[in-house]
Amino acid sequence: MEKSPLMEVRNLQKVYGGRQGLLLPNKKVTAVHDVSFSIQKGETFGLIGESGSGKTTVGRMILRLIEPTNGSIIYNGTSLRELSAKQMAVLRRKIQIVFQDSGSAFNPRMTLGEQIAYPLLKFGEYEDKDDVNRKVYDMLEVVGLRKDFALRYPHELSGGQRQRAGIARSLILKPEFLVLDEPVSALDVSVKAQIINLLQELQKELQLTYLFIAHNLDLVAYFCDRVAVMSKGQIAETGTTVSLFRNPQTDVTKKLLGSILTLDGDLGNVQKKFYSA
Ligand SMILES: Nc1ncnc2c1ncn2[C@@H]1O[C@H](COP(=O)(O)OP(=O)(O)OP(=O)(O)O)[C@@H](O)[C@H]1O
Ligand SMILES: [Mg+2]
Repeated sequence: MEKSPLMEVRNLQKVYGGRQGLLLPNKKVTAVHDVSFSIQKGETFGLIGESGSGKTTVGRMILRLIEPTNGSIIYNGTSLRELSAKQMAVLRRKIQIVFQDSGSAFNPRMTLGEQIAYPLLKFGEYEDKDDVNRKVYDMLEVVGLRKDFALRYPHELSGGQRQRAGIARSLILKPEFLVLDEPVSALDVSVKAQIINLLQELQKELQLTYLFIAHNLDLVAYFCDRVAVMSKGQIAETGTTVSLFRNPQTDVTKKLLGSILTLDGDLGNVQKKFYSA
């Protein structure tokens, strides 16, 4: 029996540009042509593809941070593009995003505590001041940061700590669906592993569903249940992680897999999981 998906995008399209100016040609870029996929509740769905293939554009359209030119986004049976700004604001609590460098989105002049608390205050999701403090402290603990980080400023953190704080801010309203746009790309290898483990634990604990946008195929192989490969604004191929890595159907996927070989010289985790025996 086919379950209904938590997130479904159909025929998504984005055309950028059309800006007029004396020195600017009126050039339009079709960044996303016609993208469709669906994600089941609790699933981790990977989106991979070469730089500029349209992954971030898709991720942001899902949250309507970028307005699609065409297509539909159905979240839990609700068509997001038909919602008013007010209705969308309510739903946005359920759908959050974590960026490559979430720290850069922090205001340098405000403490982390103030900024992690901000969504609670904005949506009135608190009883009193103590309740806000408690929720912020609890969330810091969830992402593995001590209470006193609430009083720190963004520049007083390491890259890994800033990313943990960014995740705390994305989780404070208890979302159901997270777009993770290269959440560990800017981090050292050991910190990468810590954050990926944290995301996996959070997924189990909070029953989260993830759209994981990534370059690193080792991570995708380890982290994702299913994967879609994007090329030039379109989906070239979708499959379970195991079938896609074992038996790629398109040249685009083969090329992506091949680049691990030539870049690293050995296949690391991917080899162990999918190519041996
Ligand atoms: N605001 C914009 N205006 C015009 N073109 C844009 C804009 N944002 C992105 N693009 C173009 O859209 C295409 C897709 O960009 P996007 O950022 O979605 O790619 P990506 O797959 O996330 O790449 P990367 O792996 O480098 O992050 C690129 O050709 C890019 O230059
Ligand atoms: Mg991107």
